[in-house]
Parts: sequence; structure tokens; C-alpha cells
Amino acid sequence: MNSRRAPTHPCLVVCPPGLEELVAEELVALGARPGRRGKGTVTVDLTTRRLYAANLFLRCATRVLVRVGGFTVRTFADLERRIGEMDWDAWLAPDTVPRFRVTTRHSKLWHDGAIAERFAAALGPGSRTGESTDVSADRSDEASTQLIVVRAVDDRFTVSIDSSGAPLHERGWRQATAKAPLRESVASGLLSSAGWDPSAPLVDPMCGSGTIAIEAALRAAGVPPAHDRDLALRTWSCFEPGTWASVSADAGRMRSEAPVPDGHGPPRIVAADRDAGAIEAARANAERAGVADRIEFRVAPVAALEPPGGAGPSSEPAPGLVATNPPWGGRLGGGDLRNLYATLGRVAAEQCPGWGIGVLVADRALARQVRPGLTEQLHLELGGRPAHWLTGRLG
Ligand SMILES: C[S@@+](CC[C@H](N)C(=O)[O-])C[C@H]1O[C@@H](n2cnc3c(N)ncnc32)[C@H](O)[C@@H]1O
Repeated sequence: MNSRRAPTHPCLVVCPPGLEELVAEELVALGARPGRRGKGTVTVDLTTRRLYAANLFLRCATRVLVRVGGFTVRTFADLERRIGEMDWDAWLAPDTVPRFRVTTRHSKLWHDGAIAERFAAALGPGSRTGESTDVSADRSDEASTQLIVVRAVDDRFTVSIDSSGAPLHERGWRQATAKAPLRESVASGLLSSAGWDPSAPLVDPMCGSGTIAIEAALRAAGVPPAHDRDLALRTWSCFEPGTWASVSADAGRMRSEAPVPDGHGPPRIVAADRDAGAIEAARANAERAGVADRIEFRVAPVAALEPPGGAGPSSEPAPGLVATNPPWGGRLGGGDLRNLYATLGRVAAEQCPGWGIGVLVADRALARQVRPGLTEQLHLELGGRPAHWLTGRLG
């Protein structure tokens, strides 16, 4: 990949459905010009430098695919010829094990497995070393394999190479989970769409494994989301170490410019849950993320919600954000859920007047128990289920 010969790469950024506009905003912040939005996708042309930066800095994305080929074929013979014409050596190092994700729609070649086999025969280690070729679509060791995404619609094939490796929401710190954890990318999207300022306080009174609070603390600390993890692009034969070093240096600057907690004032981010096991998981995750000193952990019910420092409303002048993902059901019945949501709204308004509030709910009617007049900021799909992020102002 020579930046003079190929100044930009046509890319597709994949994200959880509902976060497309936030991803587009993040791309603009990197100096790129996002194009078409699809469900869970944003197209964009990226220079090599911005491709690296996108992987390092996008908080709401799942992966970045680079389109490396496009052609129309209706027979396997033509498909094999087209695969053979592509410049794979620019991307795949000799020891790379490719794996393929194939989808087809309205196409003469419709058998996903047979299509993957043609790619594997041309690109797999078997084609280079004589060993057998793995065409499985779901190898778990994503970091050491190279995902190639093949999509055929109306006989038009698009071939993309994944630059990310393991999904970008897998930042590496969340190993302990509580009930129904959010993806890190979704938690980050909630914070962005609520307009949370990383210098303002934040309370998650039902934090579970701490995802919202830890994503907030990482932002406050200026830690780029993909800091310290493997990326598939680093294994490419066309990988540019100099460009990478320069992009990483930007990340280092971001970190060094973040305000360091001075050790005197209390942390401005609170993660609370009534379940001691959840708080233990949240604390262990925060330690792995390197931000435990930025978060105050509390085993407490929502009725005991308080702003950071444990002080009353008058001693915390800067308005912050109460951001939370309450239970959606489970063992709690309708009446108990309504009470829980109403308690959240009442106590938050008493303790944090003037603050913003954001609740992630499955049922908009329940959000009205928290507070009437909340505005829907995001319409998401989580685990195939619709979810709504509503925000408003307290008291
Ligand atoms: C959906 S989970 C939150 C998941 C979290 N966002 C994450 O990423 O791990 C809801 C949490 O609310 C907590 N919870 C339920 N009722 C509560 C109450 N009355 N007070 C405080 N926490 C409560 C549960 O223990 C659970 O951890």
C-alpha cells in the first residue's frame, strides 16, 4: 500500500446499529468525510494514516473493512480467475491464515461455502505450503487470522479485508462481567450522544460490570480505545511502521494532555450497584483498564444515589450526568420495575439537580416513570432487541 499510488482506501466502518451518526462524527473528527450510512455501516475513503487512526481512535465502531476488490461474476471459473487477478501479496503476509465470511443475495453463485472454498484454495496456507486450508467462518483466535469479507448482491462481488482483527469494542479490559453487560462501543455512544463532557462528574447507579463508568474514565484519561491491543492491519505485508508510529504518537499526546487526578479530590465518576459481585467485577475491570483511581465504587441501592464525594447536592456545583442501563425485566415484575425506574428519577432529581440524565431502556413507557419528557437520542438494537437511549435534565 503506497500512499502515492493509492492515496485513499475505500472503507466500510461497521458499528452496532443505531451508532452510525456517532461513527460518522468520529470520522469527521479524524479529518475524513463519511459517505453513505447503512444499517450498522458507514462508508468512507481513508488514507493509510486515517485508516490506522480510525482503528486506534474510533470509540463506537466494531471494525473497519477495506474494499480490495469488486467484480461481477456468474460462474465459479470466472470467480477463480478474478480472485487470481487480485494483488493479495500486498495484504497477506506469507504466514497469514485467512478466514472468510461470505454472504450472497440474488446471485447465481449462492453457495457461501463453495465460494469460501474458492478463496481458500487461492489464498489459504494450503495454497502456499501444501498444508490443509481452514475455511471456517468463525475461528475464535481472531488476532492471528485475517478475516476476508465477501459479499455478493445481484452477482456483484465486493471483497474486503478486515483491518481490525478482534472487534474494536473488545478493548481488552473487560474480563469480568455481571448481568447483561453492554458493549464498550455502545457505552461510549451513550456518553457521546448525551453530550457528556469528560471533565464533568458522572454517576452510574446500576453499573453492573462498570462499562459506562470505565468508558467515561478512559475518555477522561485520554486513553485511545484500541490502545494496547492487536490490530489485523499490523500483520499486513503493506503495513507502514513509520505511519503507525506517528499515529501512535498522537495517541500518546492525547494521554499526556489528559488531567491527572491530583490525589486530593475524590474521583468524579461513581459506579454503584446493589450487587457486591457486580462491583467487584467493575473494580477488577477498571484496574485492568488502568482507571480504577478515577472511579468511586459503591455497593448501594439506587435509592442511595449520591453525586461523587458522597456530599449532598449543594457541594457539587458542576452539573454532571447520571447515565445508566437499568434492568429491563428478568426477575423483576412490572410493578417492581416501575418502582425502580421511578425511584431512580426521584432520587436523581433530589441529589443531582441541574444534571443531565440518560437511561437505556427496552420499554419507552418505563422511561416515563424516570421522568416525563425525556428525549430519545438513540434507537439501538442490542442482542437483536430494540433499545432506546433517552436523555433529559433533572430538576
Ligand atoms: C442491565 S445491568 C447493567 C449492566 C451494565 N451496564 C454493564 O455493562 O455491565 C443492571 C444492573 O442493575 C443492578 N440493579 C438492579 N436493581 C438495582 C437497585 N435497586 N439498585 C442498584 N442496582 C440495581 C443489577 O445488579 C445489575 O447489575
